[in-house]
Amino acid sequence: MPHIPISPAILYWGTPVVLVTTTNPAPEPNPSSTSPTQRAAPANIGPISSAWWLGHCCMLGLDASSATTQNLLCSRQCVLNLPSDDMAPVVNALARTTGTPSLPPHKLAMGYRYEGDKFRAAGLTPLPSSLVAPPRIAQCPVAMECEVAKVHTFMEHDAERAGFVVAVECKVVKIWIDERLKMEGYRNRVDPDLWRPLIMSFQELYGLSGRRKDRESVLGAVEEENYRILAAGSSGEAEGDTIRSGFLPEEGQ
Ligand SMILES: Cc1cc2nc3c(=O)[nH]c(=O)nc-3n(C[C@H](O)[C@H](O)[C@H](O)COP(=O)(O)O)c2cc1C
Repeated sequence: MPHIPISPAILYWGTPVVLVTTTNPAPEPNPSSTSPTQRAAPANIGPISSAWWLGHCCMLGLDASSATTQNLLCSRQCVLNLPSDDMAPVVNALARTTGTPSLPPHKLAMGYRYEGDKFRAAGLTPLPSSLVAPPRIAQCPVAMECEVAKVHTFMEHDAERAGFVVAVECKVVKIWIDERLKMEGYRNRVDPDLWRPLIMSFQELYGLSGRRKDRESVLGAVEEENYRILAAGSSGEAEGDTIRSGFLPEEGQ
């Protein structure tokens, strides 16, 4: 395979879209004010795709100027809602909107506009969460209620860019799925044949193409419950499924 060196402006190789819901600050007390802040809905939705997961924790890569980031720093809670691959029109309705009334120059240059009620703008329905204040999105098949564990500076090594992006480490405290996604015979497993995430690759939206590839995944041979060692104690009532084989030590060892 011939390789060529290139330097793309972005390295968005393909990650699931996440709709981050956060609580907006309470409106100013003056009821006659018509300022944009006054008109903001109780919650904001920030579409992102810079997210990775280990155990019951998630790291989010966020533009520091976003309303989502500001809300997270303030309330330290969010819900990570995962849209399915038929929800591209919803994500497009949210794209290039911000809940920040005064747009920063880089977002103005990219054609962003202020949107105070993103639920209305995208035709989405808020659902109350159980452990955090921000709502879930009823139309998303997956929703994870989270608390902020730590905010990390990203690109600290680069004096010109440090501070523009933050990496927000979230602790997942409650996980909801559409019951039709649950793997038959298990209490706590998602069936990957049924879950269809919406993927952003180089700013375009995709589904996973078709079913899995012709060979079984080698990683897939590891009993899934073995990974609970990274999740222990972080998801409330979760009991776990029975481990049939794997590398966890027996109790007492
Ligand atoms: C599909 C998609 C993926 C995006 N991924 C990210 C991302 O990973 N991080 C980020 O900061 N912004 C990302 N954006 C841009 C944000 O949506 C943008 O910063 C927006 O202002 C966030 O909304 P807010 O300002 O109301 O929080 C993405 C936008 C779209 C449509």
